[in-house]
Amino acid sequence: MRDQAEGLRNRFRNGNTEVKIAKAIAVISGKGGVGKSNFSLNFSISLSQLGYRVLLFDMDIGMGNIDILLGISSEKNITDFFSRNLSLQEVITKGPENISFISGGTGLSYVFSMDESQFNRFSQQLQSVLEQYDYIIFDMGAGISKESSQFVQCVDELITITTPEPTSVMDGYSILKYLHSHISETPIYLVCNRVHNQKEGKETISRLQNAVKKFLNTEIIPLGYLPDDRTVSKAVSRQVPFLMMYPNSDISIGIKQMADRYSRQALNESINIRKNNFIGRLTHFFSGK
Ligand SMILES: Nc1ncnc2c1ncn2[C@@H]1O[C@H](COP(=O)(O)OP(=O)(O)OP(=O)(O)O)[C@@H](O)[C@H]1O
Ligand SMILES: [Mg+2]
Repeated sequence: MRDQAEGLRNRFRNGNTEVKIAKAIAVISGKGGVGKSNFSLNFSISLSQLGYRVLLFDMDIGMGNIDILLGISSEKNITDFFSRNLSLQEVITKGPENISFISGGTGLSYVFSMDESQFNRFSQQLQSVLEQYDYIIFDMGAGISKESSQFVQCVDELITITTPEPTSVMDGYSILKYLHSHISETPIYLVCNRVHNQKEGKETISRLQNAVKKFLNTEIIPLGYLPDDRTVSKAVSRQVPFLMMYPNSDISIGIKQMADRYSRQALNESINIRKNNFIGRLTHFFSGK
């Protein structure tokens, strides 16, 4: 798989003058606490184990917890980019299994309230960071604000997480309803987390999929479901990603299969480079402010 990813990168480099840049993916949910951060982290590790270069960006700014899930207290976080004028490269920390991450830190959020010169600095540096990775995964906070919604509208793809609980499904529907008129061209994937059996997973996915199709006239792509697994809270308590602490648990096997499936789909799509225009859309948004 590592060879496959490398082969593809070479194809882009050799046969195409355009530089291949990372696919920007935001992980969102309506309801909080459904497993976004654990999913983002372990999905990133799975993609990295498949040979892809992954940057995980904790966008739950000010309340980020990727650090905590990793048991790493990174010295720098994204707020230092703004308040201490550090480069984006300097706020990237190396994580396990070759992933890179940017910590959300604690304190005030600057990311969604940049002025023009800050934005120019941010977007220029983001461009070169994007060239160094295959995927950049944004772990978003729960729900959506006006500012975070603008950001989410700019990414290349969305992964929505829900659990089988009706409240979580309803909130998942609500966030997609809120976003849908702005994201008509963004592929939306759906993951159902914490299922107790296959039937529950399949039913939850088709319930949300059908509602979105019927009322929003939008297709969502099921990525699959992950079990409710007690190894997750054990790994959270030990501050080790479940994929590393329990690589053979049901959820670890499930997320590895999911990453494999996802990356195969994404590989096909990434042939169409035009679609990955995250910075272009961010700039468009920002200049319209
Ligand atoms: N598949 C699972 N099986 C069992 N427990 C889980 C699973 N996924 C998540 N959890 C539990 O849910 C808790 C919350 O998970 P996580 O922090 O990843 O959610 P979140 O959606 O990022 O939350 P927030 O909205 O606050 O950012 C975890 O600490 C863990 O105890
Ligand atoms: Mg979280």
